[in-house]
Amino acid sequence: MQTVVKPFDEATIAEAARRILAGECVAVPTETVYGLAADATNGEAVAGIYAAKGRPSFNPLIVHVPTIDAARAIATFNPAAEKLAATFWPGPLTLVLPQRPDSPVAAIVAAGLDTIAIRIPAHPAMQGLLRATNRPLAAPSANASGRISPTRADHVLASLKGKIGLIVDAGPTGHGLESSIVAPAAAPVRLLRPGPIDRDMIEAATGLPVSLDASDAIEAPGQMASHYAPTKPVRLEAAHGKPGEWLIGFGNVAGDATLSASGDLIEAAARLFDALHEAEASDAARISVAPIPETGLGIAINDRLRRAAADR
Ligand code: TXA
Ligand code: MG
Repeated sequence: MQTVVKPFDEATIAEAARRILAGECVAVPTETVYGLAADATNGEAVAGIYAAKGRPSFNPLIVHVPTIDAARAIATFNPAAEKLAATFWPGPLTLVLPQRPDSPVAAIVAAGLDTIAIRIPAHPAMQGLLRATNRPLAAPSANASGRISPTRADHVLASLKGKIGLIVDAGPTGHGLESSIVAPAAAPVRLLRPGPIDRDMIEAATGLPVSLDASDAIEAPGQMASHYAPTKPVRLEAAHGKPGEWLIGFGNVAGDATLSASGDLIEAAARLFDALHEAEASDAARISVAPIPETGLGIAINDRLRRAAADR
């Protein structure tokens, strides 16, 4: 794929919006770091983010929205969340909140969790893209997996050249540090990732004590283990279903439902969490999953499946 870098202006945002609505991901600056944005309501587009980044596992992503009303359509706000949003949005603060049952966001964005990380960014380029697409945008930092976060368009280019179509260049970002992540579910408010909005600012805005609780930030794939575990036993590498099993198919293995009949790993990644939820909700006592090739996005899919199947 050819990667073009274009200066931030109206025409570039229009092109970026066309690409996003066509299911591509596009690199765009925020006030913190450059993000790799995709339509959060399109699971396959979000799977494309992981493919471009070469991420070995699915971390839950931050959803960017233009307005508080758009945030309320996705997440449930308690009083502390209301105060934080009123004080710091738009800006470098991400709230982890319960996701509404009728949220339009694809399951892959929160990696199957029932919470969602959400923020209103302040940067005019990301704001422009949110308004032009009229979609919530999932966006991790626009770097290859394991590399440091990009604060300039040429950092993005060095890391993702050939993997994405467009980088919107608005010069260096203001903060250069990812947003603070806060979970205001109950006192004490938990600061999951320190960032530009510090603990004192959060305490002042909420009037509540704040604990630095980075252990709850879902950074390392291992920390996610319990979140992926269905309550039913899971058998992997299943070429055929056995009696009492709900078989999740892939490619030649049709199953009770399929991740991708054509064997497309991007489609499979997009459907994975929905498929596990569906299997969990079925009448079958056990779940089995067809073999998934250990290549490309298949590595991340198999990582998640092994966690789902692990003894507990
Ligand atoms: O400044 C930023 O936040 C940048 C710009 C692009 O907005 N984005 C960013 O995204 O840093 P990313 O994907 O690199 O980091 C997202 C972090 C992950 O480390 C994950 O632990 C946390 O957000 N996260 C997302 N959803 C979560 C959830 N439901 N519960 C706990 N942590 C969550
Ligand atoms: Mg990152």
